[in-house]
Amino acid sequence: MTTPAQTMAERTRQMWAAVDYHPIAVQDVLVSELLARAADVHSGHRVLDVAAGSGNSALAAARRGARVTATDIVPAALETAVRRAAAEGLQLEVEVADAQDLPFEDGTFDVVLSSFGAMYAPDQQRTVGELLRVCRPGGRIAMANWTPDGVVARLQRVMASVMPPPAQAAPPRKPPVAWGSEQHCRELFGDRVTSLSATVRVDEMCAPSAGAQVELMAGHLAPWHMATKVLPPESQQKLAEAAAAEYERVNRATDGTLVARAEYLEVVAVKA
Ligand SMILES: C[S@@+](CC[C@H](N)C(=O)[O-])C[C@H]1O[C@@H](n2cnc3c(N)ncnc32)[C@H](O)[C@@H]1O
Repeated sequence: MTTPAQTMAERTRQMWAAVDYHPIAVQDVLVSELLARAADVHSGHRVLDVAAGSGNSALAAARRGARVTATDIVPAALETAVRRAAAEGLQLEVEVADAQDLPFEDGTFDVVLSSFGAMYAPDQQRTVGELLRVCRPGGRIAMANWTPDGVVARLQRVMASVMPPPAQAAPPRKPPVAWGSEQHCRELFGDRVTSLSATVRVDEMCAPSAGAQVELMAGHLAPWHMATKVLPPESQQKLAEAAAAEYERVNRATDGTLVARAEYLEVVAVKA
């Protein structure tokens, strides 16, 4: 019999599998390189990348000589990760898994990474419990999470403002970008960690124009793609214009292209 948790996981998988995220992931490679360094990944470490997508953080860890496993709820994303690893002559294990229910023994990994990944799992308490459980005592959990005031959060609010209300009222839940607040992370990890450091960093998203970046999202960012699909064409147009305006607010390019400054929180916690 299918449990409610399995039904929810299958819905999540179908949503993220609707489009290929990889063309967006390539904009964030530096985030993962910095994350692997902040997590102090050493050669020979056992590293897990949770909600790895096409493997940005997994590959960053593998480049440092770690023995890496990448997990994601979408099998096709992991196939891309495997191809990328092969192209660089790196070893990578992959396993399809829900971030809220990881198929590993307690304390398996020296380092657990997640870049813009675990933050999207619906049950934040359960997710943090799993990140902690599979990490060994003294090991590190390192995450890159979009902040509640950065451009990604602002885009989510623009989207929410044009969406029709859901037929059934959903139970109140902290949004994914809550993970981008140091205070919220401290509450989530609690006394299960001996230290937690949080650094606000800025990612740069480069595109030919703000409009081109919005088209990229519509084609390759599953939540945006699925949400825009249900809107009538005139609302889609308005949403695209509002989203482009949000990108322009953080655009530091003056040549008509886009170099959008996107704030995120880099969190490194040491498991007790
Ligand atoms: C924004 S992408 C980031 C991918 C990758 N970490 C990166 O840095 O490019 C979010 C990823 O989380 C995955 N995902 C979302 N919910 C998940 C869940 N509950 N369990 C595992 N993966 C999940 C999606 O399939 C997608 O690959």
